[in-house]
Amino acid sequence: MSEDAVVGVSSRVARSATDEPGSSGFAGSPTPGPAASRPAGGATDSSRSLSRERSDDTRRARLRTRFTEALGIEHPVVQGGMMWVGRAELAAAVSEAGGLGMITALTQPTPADLVKEIERARTLTDKPFGVNLTILPSITPPPYDEYRRAIIDAGVTIVETAGANPEPHMDMFREHGVRVIHKCTSVRHALKAEKVGVTAVSIDGFECAGHPGEDDVPGLVLIPAAADALSIPFIASGGFADGRGLAAALVLGADGVNMGSRFMCTEESPVARAVKERIVEASELDTNLIFRSLHNTARVAKNAVSDEVVRILAEGGQFPDVRELVAGARGRKVFENGDLDAGIWTVGQVQGLIHDIPPAGEVVRRTVSQAYEVLSQRLSLFA
Ligand SMILES: Cc1cc2nc3c(=O)[nH]c(=O)nc-3n(C[C@H](O)[C@H](O)[C@H](O)COP(=O)(O)O)c2cc1C
Repeated sequence: MSEDAVVGVSSRVARSATDEPGSSGFAGSPTPGPAASRPAGGATDSSRSLSRERSDDTRRARLRTRFTEALGIEHPVVQGGMMWVGRAELAAAVSEAGGLGMITALTQPTPADLVKEIERARTLTDKPFGVNLTILPSITPPPYDEYRRAIIDAGVTIVETAGANPEPHMDMFREHGVRVIHKCTSVRHALKAEKVGVTAVSIDGFECAGHPGEDDVPGLVLIPAAADALSIPFIASGGFADGRGLAAALVLGADGVNMGSRFMCTEESPVARAVKERIVEASELDTNLIFRSLHNTARVAKNAVSDEVVRILAEGGQFPDVRELVAGARGRKVFENGDLDAGIWTVGQVQGLIHDIPPAGEVVRRTVSQAYEVLSQRLSLFA
């Protein structure tokens, strides 16, 4: 099976056989690739044993797709915007490793603070990172236009929009050369985003953390359905934590993956250690879907508070009956203090596949290495 055939129509895969000092590679230790993909000579006598060790354990895989080309990044791995989590350290660590990190605009109290956070990320990496702008209906909405202005003025050229049709923002973004990745949960919304001129779409399956929409279509169907319908590059989101997931997404027709929960459980993520340890302990069964009856479903961690919200709403309660329980300030306490039952906090089913708290850059590297191994070694057994 040729490498091109492995990743399908929209993607092509290339392996860079350069050693990367400091890169730990995939924990499953990739087996040495075919001789043709090894570096041709170059090792001096004194460096040979070291470079052989590195070439077995840390040789870098590279998966190039339409998405990586369109966004000018090395690896098709994105860290989705996360309220309270998407700060400079995490975004920069993902981008520094060749993925695409996202600062979450609304985590910053004002547009001016967002500019400072962007500047802080720039001190941590020279590589491209993006800003997530989540536009949700609200009684007293944040000043979205001012946040958008701050993003543009700060010279950011990649934005992840989510929550609503990005159309009202597109002219400004286009005028300033900002490429928009719109995150949505259905093929019809993805098509709409394509029509209004976004560069790429990120499509969230029912498994995802946060808002999966109301259609309940899991990734296994949603991704190929999106591949059939869309012409622009798109990445698969929801339920991805490792290279098996990335390989599967590519095979299903996506051009990469977006991960939230996986990056929340890394060293650079600013949430309390107890939250990360809980994610490692938890299984895929440990989430709740809240707000189903309000048609504003959110997938969150199963805890005493989310159990209570589910119970109240199932018994006919309305939003005012749960308002206090779901208050953002309570959820924020979970992340800050590690009190897991202080409020509602977001996580996806994929926590059942998360078993460690590594540096975010290692997640990027091993996801790509493992995907490469799956695609080029394991699946090629069946060629
Ligand atoms: C703690 C947390 C907060 C999130 N906040 C946002 C947000 O503010 N805006 C947004 O577009 N997506 C948000 N998401 C969703 C992620 O960007 C991503 O789409 C989702 O986590 C993908 O599912 P996964 O967790 O299975 O990888 C959040 C996810 C988590 C885990």
